Amino acid sequence: MVVSVVTKTCEKVVSLVSQPAVTPSNLSRGHVPELSIAPLGADAHDSLTADVLIVPVFHGENGLELAGSLGGAWGRGLEITLWKLLVSLGAQGTPGEVTTVPAASIFSHDDESEEAGADSTKESSPFTTIIAIGLGDSDELTAETIREGAGTAIRAVQRTKDQEPASVVSMLGIFDPEAAVIGHALGAYTYAGFKEAKPSVATVSVVTPPATEEDNSADEILQHARVLVDSVALARDLVNAPANVLYPESYASFIKNAAEAEGLEVEILKESQLEEQGYGGILGVGQGSARPPRLVRVSYNKDAQDTPLVALVGKGITFDTGGISLKPGANMWNMISDMGGSAAVVGSIIAAARLGLNLRVTATIPLAENMPGDKATRPGDIIVHYGGLSSEVLNTDAEGRLVLADAIARACEDEPAFLIETATLTGAQMVALGERTPGIMGSIEFRDRVSMISQNVGENAWPMPLPKELAKEITSDVADLKNISTSRWGGMSVAGHYLSKFVAEGVQWVHMDVAGPAYNTGSAHGYTPKRGTGVPVRTIVASLEAIARGEVDH
Ligand code: BES
Ligand code: ZN
Ligand code: ZN
Repeated sequence: MVVSVVTKTCEKVVSLVSQPAVTPSNLSRGHVPELSIAPLGADAHDSLTADVLIVPVFHGENGLELAGSLGGAWGRGLEITLWKLLVSLGAQGTPGEVTTVPAASIFSHDDESEEAGADSTKESSPFTTIIAIGLGDSDELTAETIREGAGTAIRAVQRTKDQEPASVVSMLGIFDPEAAVIGHALGAYTYAGFKEAKPSVATVSVVTPPATEEDNSADEILQHARVLVDSVALARDLVNAPANVLYPESYASFIKNAAEAEGLEVEILKESQLEEQGYGGILGVGQGSARPPRLVRVSYNKDAQDTPLVALVGKGITFDTGGISLKPGANMWNMISDMGGSAAVVGSIIAAARLGLNLRVTATIPLAENMPGDKATRPGDIIVHYGGLSSEVLNTDAEGRLVLADAIARACEDEPAFLIETATLTGAQMVALGERTPGIMGSIEFRDRVSMISQNVGENAWPMPLPKELAKEITSDVADLKNISTSRWGGMSVAGHYLSKFVAEGVQWVHMDVAGPAYNTGSAHGYTPKRGTGVPVRTIVASLEAIARGEVDH
């Protein structure tokens, strides 16, 4: 910084404008362990050694079952010894049950080590600790049970202050390698922000079923899982960043750096360009803040011929105070997550590029900070959106739909076949579905398709209707629309109706409300950490993959 002598007032201004830009290198990043796979062939287990071994256990008619995952590698005798020890500790194998035992007590049952005595037993044990993770009934095993078990097990890895982060070998990959890798990696994610990171897990090696010689499917699975994990972690990092670090200008330049590094095209509209082009929704929401708004547009595969175009849109309110319709103070800090939709869209388009999907994708990302400054939009103001529709703003806290209206109208100009939009849009989503289940609305068939995809990946977006009688709730006497309903009911669907007015005819579209699911204000569970969750990155990427494979009708 060039300013060396400053007055008090000047200091304030300087500290505002000199806020360092957020770049891919200085955003606080969460920790994700290094991932690898270990195909189980004859004797392959001989080379497996680590601090921790994770073993799946099941709950059957007679209680604890081990289902052979260890026996295949180290012999039946060892499996029986482990089973006996776990039973003696009261293990049942029920979902999420964690039992930690010293590995030497199991591996010492080798003949050799039994004779050699306690000290050399320790040395000869390939692991220090075994974590047995309950997966419930083995007949009802699903990918999500494995992801959740993998996440719970990896979070149970403990380190003392003096120990290095652990190396982990996991047997969960025997059942579903990708689910195991994703569950372990996402479960191990930790975010330290401005504090020094102290991760517990350094590496995870997932044991997979024996591979045939030309079979490289395990490698492909690992590469695919890595792309998903990286994109989810990126979305989490962005959501976790506080609003003094991540604001429209710094966020836009972060997206530009990150997307261009993957070969994507990026265009950023600054305030003057938003004015020239008539983005009244984004400007109206952003004008109460000293940090001006932006519209970011990212394109993947722009010039590809004969592939469907999918438009992604994500709400990017870097902080939502409510504006003049100010929110109460309690829990307002959670509103750093009000850009969760945009973070998921950024992660998703980067994943599409890294996976080389055969389609075109645009991401249209409106960024604004909703503040109650002296230039802020007032209740009763009328704004004109991109494309010409007007909104009477009766509550400045219903700001997400105002910026999304502009972004959806712009995205539709490119005539996409599909539009996937996501936002932390309404408290009503949580009233209806709870904190973990996104509500999904839009074109019926596409909505149901994306909902099924979401349930398969474990993000569980649930289809919600746009009841026709709610359409009149957002009609205004003085503008095309008003931004809130005066009734208490159906707030999530009222917002969906509002957004539908900006979607062009013939576009298959969905709106995913992730107000609760994008940000975990409680404690960690399964593979979901505290704070940013990365929902709905995996739903969007899996939907893009289904479209690229030609599996989704238009
Ligand atoms: N960002 C909020 C929605 C939200 C609430 C997200 C809680 C995450 C957790 C949104 O901008 C908002 O304030 N919506 C209002 C709309 C209302 C004024 C019609 C709401 O849901 O209360
Ligand atoms: Zn709001
Ligand atoms: Zn909001």
